Amino acid sequence: MEHNRAILVVDDDPTIIKACERVLKSEGYSIDSATNGQAAINILQDKDYDLVITDLKMPEVSGIDLIKWVRSSKPQTGIVIITGYPSQETIKDALDLGIIDYLPKPFSPALLTEVVDKAITYISSTTLPDKPSEEQEITAKTKDLERIISENRSKPGSLIPVLQQAQELIGYLPPSVQRHIASGLNMPVSEVHSVVSFYSFFTMKPKGKHNVRVCLGTACYVKRAEEILQKLRETLNIDVGEVTKDKKFSLESVRCLGACGLAPVVVVDTETYGSIDPVKTSEILKAYE
Ligand code: FES
Repeated sequence: MEHNRAILVVDDDPTIIKACERVLKSEGYSIDSATNGQAAINILQDKDYDLVITDLKMPEVSGIDLIKWVRSSKPQTGIVIITGYPSQETIKDALDLGIIDYLPKPFSPALLTEVVDKAITYISSTTLPDKPSEEQEITAKTKDLERIISENRSKPGSLIPVLQQAQELIGYLPPSVQRHIASGLNMPVSEVHSVVSFYSFFTMKPKGKHNVRVCLGTACYVKRAEEILQKLRETLNIDVGEVTKDKKFSLESVRCLGACGLAPVVVVDTETYGSIDPVKTSEILKAYE
């Protein structure tokens, strides 16, 4: 796959850099690396990148300082953070600065690819309009969306309830809806997008009648969840984030469904299936035909 997309990976742990290089190069991305924030700034002064993936805890220039620098000097560059300590405070600081997504350490190759692909899609979607059919569908519901925004505008913490109601109304939260909500609530689009990416119950893509979610969190990954995902791709003939032609199924991968004791886990709509394997997965789908 040829992406022609340039990514800078910044981490003081060389094993993380090596892992990112190996996985992302095989996906067709062009990768450079830096082992601290200052070195990253030096590289960024000479070259533009589509995405910077950075650790938060680094000596001297920290990840947060690097993010602030990128935000002011290279605002078109997307940012994904790597965090070993999912401290809500640090993630919140980064979210406030408009990061696109985060990678919890340790992460699987599948999760790395998924997060990077999503971030690159997001970067492209902020410069491209939605598809015409999507636009028509959303325009038809603009009045209802306006009502949701104005009913919540003056309430504290209105963003999440607005996003939930907008998703109920439209079924998903494409970039145009995120832009609409951002301007209605008078906040940056990056902040709205950060929240949409952060919570797994929000989706940016339309869903099928039945939504199939495969957990690629660590506990499921070590029990070969990736083979299950591959089997589902083949059976449904779609990739992650897509809907089957008959609109019956959509396929998603998620990080942790909170049922690690049952790993590997697949959830269809609200039904959880644990300790499954590729063969059982195909059997499960038949119940939804
Ligand atoms: S890692 Fe899969 S449910 Fe937690």
